[in-house]
Amino acid sequence: MRVAVVGATGAVGRDLRRLLEERTFPCDEVVLVASERSAGGVLPFRGRDQVIRALTDRDVFDGVDLALFSAGGSTSREHAPRAVEAGALVVDNSSAWRMDDEVPLVVVEVNPDTVGTPHRPPPKGIIANPNCTTMTAMLPLKALHDAFDLVGFTATSFQAAGGAGQKGIDELAAQIEPLFAAGDLLRSDGRSAAKLVEHHVHEATLAFNVVPLLGAEAADGYTDEELKLVNESRKILGLPDLVVTPTCVRVPVTVGHSIAISATFQRQVTAAAALSRMEGFPGLVVEHVPTPLEFAGRDEVAVGRVRADLFDPHVLNFFVVGDNLLKGAALNTVQIAELLLARGLITAKQR
Ligand code: A2P
Repeated sequence: MRVAVVGATGAVGRDLRRLLEERTFPCDEVVLVASERSAGGVLPFRGRDQVIRALTDRDVFDGVDLALFSAGGSTSREHAPRAVEAGALVVDNSSAWRMDDEVPLVVVEVNPDTVGTPHRPPPKGIIANPNCTTMTAMLPLKALHDAFDLVGFTATSFQAAGGAGQKGIDELAAQIEPLFAAGDLLRSDGRSAAKLVEHHVHEATLAFNVVPLLGAEAADGYTDEELKLVNESRKILGLPDLVVTPTCVRVPVTVGHSIAISATFQRQVTAAAALSRMEGFPGLVVEHVPTPLEFAGRDEVAVGRVRADLFDPHVLNFFVVGDNLLKGAALNTVQIAELLLARGLITAKQR
C-alpha cells in the first residue's frame, strides 16, 4: 500500500503522519507531499527520513493507492483529481469537495455507510472530511437525534488558533509575551494594547482577547465557517431542513474547539435521558466540565454541562469540546481510510 500525505508539513499533516504510524495503518510506503518551499527537505516516518516531494511534481501520485489531502481548499480542488486519475482514492480534509453531491461527507461514528461499497464506490473517487467544528458537534447531536429527533440547533463556537493551521498557532504565540508585558495597558487602554502586535491570520489581536469573526464573510452577515455548520450538518445527518443558527468565535486556545449548543427536538428530552444516550456513543465521553486544554491531544470528543432547558421541554443545552486537529481533522481522516480498507474500497495495486 502506497499512501500519499499532501500537506505533510502542516499542523494536520503532522498528526496524519503520527496517526498512520501509531494506528499501524498498513502502508508499506509513504509519499510526503508539500509545496515547493518544503520540497527536498526530510521528515521522519517510521524511524526513517523521508524526502518531501513537491505537489507540482508530475509523477508524485504514481502508484499511490490512497492520498490524504490537508493542504487547503484551492490545492485540493486543483490536485485531488490528479491523484484520482493516477488511480488513488482521496480523503480530503479541505472544504473543496464537501458539498458536492457525488462526494460522501463522512464522520465515521455517524454516517459510515455513505462511504460506499466496492460495487458502488464514491463516484468521484473522493471522500470528504467535515469541518472541524461541525465534526465535533456531530457526535453528541447524532447520539441525541437517534433518540429524540433533532429539529435544529443554535451553536456558538469557541475555536482555537490552530483551526487556522500552524500559522494561526504561531501568530497567537507571538502575541502573548508582548501583551503580557504590557499588563497595565490591557486594563486601561485595550485598543492601544491590541496594536502592540501584528495580526494577519486572525481577524484581530487574539492573545488576551475573543474574536467574533473567523472565515470569509459569505452571505447575510454570516461567514463561510458559519455556513459550513449549517450545510455540512444537514448533509451528514441527512436532515435537509435542519434549522441551524451558527456563531463562530476565535479564542486564544492553541488547539481544541468548543461549542455551546442549544438543540431542539421533536420529542421531549431530559438531561438524564440525554446523558444515557450520549454515554455509550463511540468516540464521545461525558465530562463534568469539559475544557479544550484538557482534551488537546486526545482522540475523544467530550460533552458536559448537559442541562434541560429552563423553559422548553423539547430543548437541551450542552457544551462540547474536541481536538480540532485530531477528531476535527487528522483522526477522522485516518478513520475514514481505515473504513475504506475494512470495506474493501482500497487495496494495494499490483506493481
Ligand atoms: P508548506 O509547508 O510547504 O507550505 P497548515 O494548515 O499548518 O498551514 O499547513 C498547510 C500545509 O499545506 C503545509 O504542509 C503546506 O506546505 C501545504 N500547502 C499549502 N499550500 C500548498 C500548495 N500550493 N501546494 C502544496 N502544498 C501546499
